[in-house]
Amino acid sequence: MDDFPTIRAEALAAIEAAGDARALDAVRVAALGKSGRVTGLMKTLGGLPAEERKAFGARVNALKDEVSAALDVRKGLLDGAALTARLEAERVDVSLPVRPERSGLLHPIGQTIDELCAVFGDMGFTWAEGPDIEDDWHNFTALNIPPDHPARQMQDTFYLPPRADGTPTVLRTHTSPVQARTMLDPEVKKMLADGGALRIIVPGRTFRVDSDATHAPMFHQVEGLVIERAIHMGHLKGCLADFCRAYFEVDSVPLKFRPSYFPFTEPSAEVDIGCSWKGGELRIGAGDSWLEILGSGMVHPNVLRNCGIDPDIYQGFAFGMGIERIAMLKYGIPDLRTFYDSDLRWLRHYGFSALESPSLTGGLSR
Ligand code: PHE
Repeated sequence: MDDFPTIRAEALAAIEAAGDARALDAVRVAALGKSGRVTGLMKTLGGLPAEERKAFGARVNALKDEVSAALDVRKGLLDGAALTARLEAERVDVSLPVRPERSGLLHPIGQTIDELCAVFGDMGFTWAEGPDIEDDWHNFTALNIPPDHPARQMQDTFYLPPRADGTPTVLRTHTSPVQARTMLDPEVKKMLADGGALRIIVPGRTFRVDSDATHAPMFHQVEGLVIERAIHMGHLKGCLADFCRAYFEVDSVPLKFRPSYFPFTEPSAEVDIGCSWKGGELRIGAGDSWLEILGSGMVHPNVLRNCGIDPDIYQGFAFGMGIERIAMLKYGIPDLRTFYDSDLRWLRHYGFSALESPSLTGGLSR
């Protein structure tokens, strides 16, 4: 009896009809499994006359190969269809993150630094940086605060273990050490000697042992430094007035220069801006109140000398302000500690679009 055509036709039809991997596997077992029909043909081999066995065996093997190949083809098709279905079902909507309620926001500190860069960049300042772990010399001594001088007590310093060579180190208490680092740079000296001017701002982290609603042990400052021939206090005043108008986005801001003391500037002044507190709301630019926003002054000749710059040829001014503080004033943020709570609700309230960079022409804080 020759079952070949029937077995072949039925197996191929069943393969064609299998709708998924499971059904196909059942077809495979029914044809090629231990008690499958094709396997069953092989089992009849022993009962055949010796001269027929070889040809019969070859036919069974050919049938086995044909069915296997058909199974493979069908499996490939079914797998492909299953993958497509899965991809359809698991589709990721990549447009989701840019929907307004999902978009990332810039932290007010980053935003404020970008605004500072836009304002001072427009006045010809470039950006400089220095290390958070500073050596005692750059943080204090170079800035005219000798070891054991009482002025060191003005800053509540975090002291770190000395370096291997004995150099005392601290977490920098202000961004002012970057003044010294920049003035000591031979490239800067050459640029000054060629008649150029040094104008830098230094935004960065600073540290003091201090914590309340308006102080945190880690906070940010921006330092400003200008060194040039024939620079005087008038330039400092004009520069800060321009800055305040641009940063606070108002037409005029009354400024008060209050005599003060910093070891690294002489004369020194703290700067207050005019404001009002009508109905509990702070308005900058007019009114009968004053708010302190920064420290400033003419760079002390000792600082210039410590950094190898001749105070008889060059003068300079410097200022330093707290970035949290000016962000709080501009954006009405009441508590400095909330800047570092990493509370997403806070960020959604005070954060800024990551897609709009501050610019003087396009609007600083649009
Ligand atoms: N470094 C000073 C401080 O942290 C601020 C300052 C900078 C004052 C530059 C004058 C000039 O208090």
